[in-house]
Amino acid sequence: MILVTGGAGFIGANFILDWLAAGDEAVVNLDKLTYAGNLDNLRTLREDERHVFVAGDIGDRGLVEALLREHRPRAIVNFAAESHVDRSIHGPAEFVQTNVVGTFNLLESVRTYWTRLPADEQAAFRFLHVSTDEVYGSLDPTAPAFTETTPYAPNSPYSASKAASDHLVRAYHHTYGLPVLTTNCSNNYGPLQFPEKLIPLVIHNALAGKPLPIYGDGSNVRDWLYVSDHCSAIRRVLKAGQAGEVYNIGGCNEKTNLDVVKTLCAILDELHPGSPVTPHARLITFVKDRPGHDRRYAIDAGKIERELGWTPSETFESGIRKTVAWYLANQDWVAHLTSGEYCNWVSRNYADHQA
Ligand code: NAD
Ligand code: DAU
Repeated sequence: MILVTGGAGFIGANFILDWLAAGDEAVVNLDKLTYAGNLDNLRTLREDERHVFVAGDIGDRGLVEALLREHRPRAIVNFAAESHVDRSIHGPAEFVQTNVVGTFNLLESVRTYWTRLPADEQAAFRFLHVSTDEVYGSLDPTAPAFTETTPYAPNSPYSASKAASDHLVRAYHHTYGLPVLTTNCSNNYGPLQFPEKLIPLVIHNALAGKPLPIYGDGSNVRDWLYVSDHCSAIRRVLKAGQAGEVYNIGGCNEKTNLDVVKTLCAILDELHPGSPVTPHARLITFVKDRPGHDRRYAIDAGKIERELGWTPSETFESGIRKTVAWYLANQDWVAHLTSGEYCNWVSRNYADHQA
């Protein structure tokens, strides 16, 4: 079996659902259930014995060491993290705690476990660390895309904390021989994404007739990858990646934020003409920029394609339509998340974006 951390969040839940749809190897899912963790994401697995959920922190060494002893996973996929850049600007401490200290404690627990495995199990074991393209910093408009050897230059507390965790993972390979794999992926979108991130936030606000906040002039560029393509890339790296190697994952879909939002508005005009305000693009509102806002990310995914034969299945056009359709069909899912803590967050964050 494998141990997945952060499996109740957006990408982790998609990964577990896809993993168990593709095969029968069981998953232990360790998740702290922060505001971003949601067991409802995994409700279809409630009766499925192949999924064992454990509520807890990756930094809890007693708990993690007990889980490793009990379940003896052959691999770990580490998704657990604080993941939202804007939240890292408001409160960086939690990001250092989970992403840096938590990953360090997890690595220590795993090292203790791995060191005691028989030689053949040690050789086959993998620790796959899920990271981000944001660790490479910001690109000029015409600069070549990030490769695996682009120097790290993180600009937000979030990306700095992810960069620190990547360095620890690397060090555990070089120093202790732990068979690690690191993946650095671009912006994901798709079902189950918490509506604090651009795409689900825009869909949610558009359906309610609320402003669609665009930071700065809307010309910042991101590369977008449909979440199930990220999951298939991780499965591929876990299966065939070389221990100690880094793999960039991307969709070859560079878009400005304004283009993304206009595309969402056009699809909503077509699929949901009954919204309170149409055409939905009337709701687009430019607001004060995010501090330290990276201008552009772009991924060169040539290594994973050449060495492991992975390419994405979805285009941006097909993935974004599926995503809008999913949110339209799952408005209850969103409604459960958008009270209480969510409202507090939205008013705190967007108060700072008033001009
Ligand atoms: P998310 O915020 O939706 O989910 C994070 C999950 O981790 C939640 O279920 C949360 O409860 C859990 N968690 C948080 N702290 C924990 C802790 N201390 N111990 C155990 N569980 C904890 O995040 P996501 O968007 O699914 O991202 C998953 C991973 O992928 C992160 O490491 C992120 O940096 C990385 N990543 C995300 C993207 C993206 O576009 N979302 C792109 C590239 C990489
Ligand atoms: O690149 C990978 C990263 O992508 C992941 O590591 C992060 O976990 C993930 O959150 C994401 O980071 P971004 O900051 O790029 O994603 P976000 O959805 O927050 O913002 C996307 C772009 O849209 C960014 O340029 C900021 C802008 N934006 C965002 C929000 C929430 C707006 O213009 N308005 C908004 O209200």
